[in-house]
Amino acid sequence: MRGRLARSSLFFMAAIVLVSLFSGFAVATEATQFGEYSADDFTYESRCRQCHAIIYADWEGTMHFNAYLDPFYLEEVKVASDDTDGLIDEFCSRCHTPIGVVSGEIPPIDGSEMSDISKLGVQCDFCHVVSGSDGTGNAPFTVTPGDTKWGPFDDSKSAYHESEYLELYTQSEYCGMCHQVIHPVNGLVIDDTYSSWKESQYGEDNIVCQDCHMTEGITEFEANPGRAGSGAPKRDHISSHDIVGGNAFIPVMFGAENIADMAVERLQKATTMEVTTPEIASAGDKVTIKATITNSGAGHNIPTGVSEIRQVWLEVNVTDATGNVIYSAGTLDIYGNIDGAKLIYNNILGDSEGNATDSFWLADRVLEDNRIGPKETVTEEHTFTLPGNVVYPLTVQTNLNYRSAPQYTIDHLFGEEMYEVPVINMNQVSSTIYDPATPPEERTESTPGFSIFAASMAFVLIMHIFYRK
Ligand code: HEC
Ligand code: HEC
Ligand code: HEC
Ligand code: HEC
Ligand code: HEC
Repeated sequence: MRGRLARSSLFFMAAIVLVSLFSGFAVATEATQFGEYSADDFTYESRCRQCHAIIYADWEGTMHFNAYLDPFYLEEVKVASDDTDGLIDEFCSRCHTPIGVVSGEIPPIDGSEMSDISKLGVQCDFCHVVSGSDGTGNAPFTVTPGDTKWGPFDDSKSAYHESEYLELYTQSEYCGMCHQVIHPVNGLVIDDTYSSWKESQYGEDNIVCQDCHMTEGITEFEANPGRAGSGAPKRDHISSHDIVGGNAFIPVMFGAENIADMAVERLQKATTMEVTTPEIASAGDKVTIKATITNSGAGHNIPTGVSEIRQVWLEVNVTDATGNVIYSAGTLDIYGNIDGAKLIYNNILGDSEGNATDSFWLADRVLEDNRIGPKETVTEEHTFTLPGNVVYPLTVQTNLNYRSAPQYTIDHLFGEEMYEVPVINMNQVSSTIYDPATPPEERTESTPGFSIFAASMAFVLIMHIFYRK
């Protein structure tokens, strides 16, 4: 036990050295260390809920709420711990159960010494006792549990606690403490959400994480007027605490369908997609379908976070009028794995031998990076030869899909048929290819949505004329 602790703090010291080397942010306060506090120093979220009921309801069921109890995390951390002989225990836990680490309850990694409050993940009385930070990456937070709650207001009063303003709460650097993960031994950047934001146009324009993740808007700031607590004054904007990303898989396991629905909505607003197909094609023709995908709404790569585990891909299905499949790519096989996709938009990490691995604690290099950068546009082409005897018209259905993990990863960890990873449709376009013999005026389905567009334009025009009279 002692040997293990000593090794673990040595490992952590190495991590700190690397953090200071890799974070580009000015040193503010010294990061809180393993075991500086006890779990009794922190207050249960049920107390905060008494006055901050709406904020509590927002937070409940989110991935911050689940950060420790998330079964995917708990399985992966067991494997990571085994692979590294326990050296990585404190490192992984620092973001997933911050109270567990600062109160010295982890290691052991099996949770046997954890108090109930430490299992509540990233929670109210952790986030609001952050009183400073030593930059970004690998959780260099300073926490001061007790009577004072830090936050975004400089004029806030509560009968229960002292309030203190800290600008950090309104900045991406707050989120960047945890949403930037650097391998503690070899320095490989494993999660670059913060740095990819910082280097993007959003970073330049200072459109921060909170603007998209803690307001009513999904791709830009949208105010949410209200009161931050019972008896509090009405304010122009209260930040929403239903912070969601793309995870619609784990929240459902905890019964939080509302959070899963919000993740789906977010994914559906993240991109724009255009698909071009020829209007006509004859047997023997080479048909090319070209999809142009833009990351128009996310302030970082798509996907981001543990992007080596996430999957984004294009599914293309061409069928004829009788439903016969003429071409398909990126569909799921009977085991739930992706079949024949041209590209998976994620990144592939490699271990010290250069073999691909999604065990990121073993990674020391990036083998491939196919994520779609903020505001970046990528194109993907599918070409096939049109066979004879098809029944026109042909339908080309193009779907951009997302899922939180490959099915085989989940089957491997939990056993087959335990969990089905949901496939979320981020974007879709359908188009039609006609028989060259069809006269142009009869090629009506060539722009689906056009008739609706035309009808609404006609309506606008009529209303316009009406009002002018
Ligand atoms: C991941 C960290 C995190 C968690 C968990 C969290 N908060 Fe916050 N909270 C913030 C940040 C960041 C802001 C400021 C956002 C801004 O103004 O841009 C904030 C703002 C607030 C405010 C000021 C009013 C407002 O909404 O703007 C209150 C009150 C508050 N939080 C209470 C809570 C309570 C109660 C909980 C638990 C149910 C909680 N917070 C959980 C990070 C967190
Ligand atoms: C007795 C009621 C009550 C309880 C219990 C309570 N708060 Fe508050 N809190 C308030 C009120 C009222 C405000 C003022 C809101 C405002 O200024 O708009 C406030 C403000 C805040 C702020 C904003 C501080 C700032 O300066 O930006 C934070 C953060 C906060 N509370 C967190 C918490 C946390 C975390 C808990 C649980 C440990 C908690 N509160 C428990 C009533 C309470
Ligand atoms: C103490 C560390 C910590 C801080 C600070 C923090 N997060 Fe997180 N966040 C996490 C962890 C850990 C998870 C993932 C838990 C899991 O997947 O098991 C997470 C999950 C998320 C998710 C859900 C991702 C998904 O795949 O759906 C979003 C979005 C998110 N955080 C945004 C933010 C934003 C925005 C801020 C700043 C206001 C912030 N976080 C601050 C640790 C943190
Ligand atoms: C311009 C709006 C915008 C900004 C700024 C932004 N995000 Fe996001 N975020 C999104 C959208 C849209 C998605 C859904 C698409 C996706 O999953 O990438 C998302 C997804 C996520 C996810 C889940 C990633 C995945 O692919 O599963 C995390 C984690 C996250 N954001 C964290 C952050 C953090 C941390 C910051 C600040 C450094 C931030 N976001 C800034 C819009 C934004
Ligand atoms: C510096 C903070 C930090 C550290 C250290 C960290 N993580 Fe995470 N982890 C996160 C954040 C933030 C997310 C959410 C990113 C996203 O959703 O895309 C996450 C997500 C995950 C997920 C995905 C969970 C899901 O439900 O999809 C797994 C698994 C995971 N982490 C395991 C680990 C393991 C194992 C370690 C140690 C080797 C570790 N993490 C270390 C911050 C951290």
